[in-house]
Amino acid sequence: MSTDAIVLLKEDHKRVRKLFKQFQAAGRNATAEKRRLVGQILEELTVHTYLENEVMYPEVRKLLPDLEEDVLESYEEHHVADLLCFELSTMSPDDERFEAKTMVLIESVTHHIEEEEQDWFPKVREGLGRKQLQELGARMAELREKAPRKPAQPGALKKAIDALTA
Ligand SMILES: [Fe+2]
Ligand SMILES: [Fe+2]
Repeated sequence: MSTDAIVLLKEDHKRVRKLFKQFQAAGRNATAEKRRLVGQILEELTVHTYLENEVMYPEVRKLLPDLEEDVLESYEEHHVADLLCFELSTMSPDDERFEAKTMVLIESVTHHIEEEEQDWFPKVREGLGRKQLQELGARMAELREKAPRKPAQPGALKKAIDALTA
């Protein structure tokens, strides 16, 4: 089995996109199905974002300074996705904002995945080469076991809430 980091990340993307399609195809009243799908989406995204944040992004930033801007923009897109994931994790499908919030998550993550796959992952492949990508992928595969599976309350939001309730 390949441990090429980009191959592994694209496999994650594929699973996430499949779940997105299933959510979009679920009927208006398929509440239990949607709850299950969103649960899976949140878990997949939490693990995936963690692996990119901890392994892929810092390494790309260090080794390929030309991609600094792409990496910084991607961190911000992860941050937006984290916020939406955390909010969704506290909501029930009966909530009138559940469907809308999930759709915004799907749209923004789909855009983000396209940018990774089409804009800057190809440059990473060119810049790092086979061996380094294999090593990065092996590190990610190992870290996957320890990765968080549930969205955490984002740091900035938590600080604001703590300050209000102190
Ligand atoms: Fe990403
Ligand atoms: Fe990704």
